[in-house]
Amino acid sequence: MVTACFCCRGRSQRKGMVDIRAVLVRFMQGQFKDRRLRILGIETTCDETAAAVVALKPDGGGEILANEVMSQIAEHAAFGGVVPEIAARAHIDVLDRLVTRALTYANVRLSELDGIAGAAGPGLIGGVIVGLTTAKALALAAHRPFIAVNHLEGHALTARLTDNIDFPYLLLLVSGGHTQLVAVRGVGDYRRIGSTVDDAVGEAFDKVAKMLGLGYPGGPAVEREALKGDPMRFDLPRPMLARQKPDFSFSGLKTAVRLEAERCMPLSPTDVADLCASFQAAVVDTLVDRLRAGLRRFTQEVGACKAVVVAGGVGANGAIRSALQRFCGEAGLRLVVPPPALCTDNGAMIAWAGLERLRLGLTDDLTFPARPRWPLDADGEAAHHGKA
Ligand code: KG4
Ligand code: ZN
Repeated sequence: MVTACFCCRGRSQRKGMVDIRAVLVRFMQGQFKDRRLRILGIETTCDETAAAVVALKPDGGGEILANEVMSQIAEHAAFGGVVPEIAARAHIDVLDRLVTRALTYANVRLSELDGIAGAAGPGLIGGVIVGLTTAKALALAAHRPFIAVNHLEGHALTARLTDNIDFPYLLLLVSGGHTQLVAVRGVGDYRRIGSTVDDAVGEAFDKVAKMLGLGYPGGPAVEREALKGDPMRFDLPRPMLARQKPDFSFSGLKTAVRLEAERCMPLSPTDVADLCASFQAAVVDTLVDRLRAGLRRFTQEVGACKAVVVAGGVGANGAIRSALQRFCGEAGLRLVVPPPALCTDNGAMIAWAGLERLRLGLTDDLTFPARPRWPLDADGEAAHHGKA
């Protein structure tokens, strides 16, 4: 009797192996000598619709041949946040054009691709279904291998696309939905070292922006205001500071900003800028402190850390990037932060994660389900299955 949960990869990979073996055999026989493996990646898990083509370079790194992203900010701005139904419909409206554009810029026909990767979650289910179904349909029509990619794995592996770094490394994943420290030991081999006990850091940026009337998306707006403000004016908490366990918490900090804002009402432009600067300074101190705790844990549990990698939309923040750079410089550690456009959601990260999986022979069949929740690490996955 088959007892595996429907959302397990196990069974689906085996069926897909037939296709990938043929691709790899041809690759090894030198039929692809004159060209490199090329993958199309599709991303629709949140409010960015994206399609990209990435190629494998001879040195093992990646090259982005096309990276088309269409943000839905305008559609959601009036609501102060992402509206799932609007997001799903907006993905449907533009995805086919983005795929066509990506293939055109990459100068590759669908039939010439070596695989098609689609983000299968985690994310807003309506949007995930749009991108995943499109990726499956293209794979079916073109008789190409299909790869279901975990969006978080896309973020986790981006530093190998941009900087060709080796495993293992410590990943600081800071996005709108996730704040985690993850030991990345290999493709598909992740160990969560710490995570937020309440809000994600991007969520805290978004909520602070909303309460200060800065609109959506909050992160870039708060960063812009912070540049004009005084980070010392408000004495805000640094949650979890100096705790051994490398976890995060941002809900108390967000509440502290709200209380200070209420005390200043009505808010002047200077108040808003100072609140943003003080909030951002508290986030910076917290992230550096939690990274320090995460590194200690990494050394104990995994061994020497080769590099620290930052991924996710909040990694686009200049103050956070500089503080992490300073910290890693002092600690003698290599820090890899992909360029801002590859920190926020994009198709290249999905294509690259698909390529990393494809070259290991990991493909999926067309029954692979869309997963609104999909933990990256084995412990989280076991908990999801009720085993832990
Ligand atoms: O990774 P991402 O594009 O989407 C997912 O959540 O998966 O991250 C989006 C988050 C949002 O919360 C946004 O406000 C935040 O990243 N963000 C920033 C900046 N740019 C985007 N936060 C702080 N500073 C920024 N410059
Ligand atoms: Zn993301």
